[in-house]
Amino acid sequence: MSRAIVVGSINRDIVAYVMAHPRPGETVLAERGALFAGGKGANQAVAVARSGGKSYFVGRVGADAFGREMLGYLAAQGIDTTAIEVVADAPTGLGLITVDATGQNAITVVSGANSVWDDCASLDVAPDDLVVCQLEIPLAIVARAFADARQAGATTILNAAPYRPLPPEILTTTDILVVNEHELEALCQGKPPFIGGDLQLVRDSAAAVMALGPKAIVVTLGAEGVLLRQADGRSWHVPGRRLAVKDTTGAGDCFVGALVAELMNGRDLHRAAIFANAAAGLSVTREGAADSIPLRAEVEGVLGA
Ligand code: RIB
Repeated sequence: MSRAIVVGSINRDIVAYVMAHPRPGETVLAERGALFAGGKGANQAVAVARSGGKSYFVGRVGADAFGREMLGYLAAQGIDTTAIEVVADAPTGLGLITVDATGQNAITVVSGANSVWDDCASLDVAPDDLVVCQLEIPLAIVARAFADARQAGATTILNAAPYRPLPPEILTTTDILVVNEHELEALCQGKPPFIGGDLQLVRDSAAAVMALGPKAIVVTLGAEGVLLRQADGRSWHVPGRRLAVKDTTGAGDCFVGALVAELMNGRDLHRAAIFANAAAGLSVTREGAADSIPLRAEVEGVLGA
């Protein structure tokens, strides 16, 4: 059985639920707070596992209580955690999150152990594995993981979040790039200027980014759904699902992990995106990042599968 090898971040999310996000210099009183499992890498690995896929995690936590909690949480999801290193010289990463009354989030990440990572052993990748990265870890590690994947003939999936300028070798070794509209705009360096909701502009921008290397691109558009484009020029729009939004944190990660699990199941990109769109739609009706990710049966229930 193929595996999703997720090379990425692990955070403990400290969440404040507020009426409105504080403005610079402002203090607001939260209605309540919560601690959740998080980190884009960890969330994506959880989404793979809950969608029925086999998930192997490569990452870092600190030698502290948050690190132990996260290791236990990931193992309890059925994720192989044997390649997660506990580092002595940095604390476990933190996600400092406010969620407002409309469910929209604002996130500051304190990288901690996720950034104490200047080298890693070669990944043991099989040709039918999928190697999945995001951008909350050093870019050199992403480049190294994708080079190992390429050498093994495995598929690479990059979720370019949060956006950072990328060295060309990462995009040229990316098979499937997953971005939201802001990351897409940043990758296009704001040219053409992005106008939300204009699907033709999203298609054109996606084509421009594919010229940098990726063989396919998936653009998540929040309530507007998802736009996909493949190397053969075929493109699809999967419409969004109208749901009562409680907390959007981790919806993009849920999408990526569910997409990966479906690709591992042998689905084509379009079918996989339909499943992942439904999974992400369910996740925003619940609180937390990893905790909000639905089980496969719940997604199938929504899709009537
Ligand atoms: O994508 C959501 C995640 O971003 C949170 O879990 C937070 O930890 C940050 O990594």
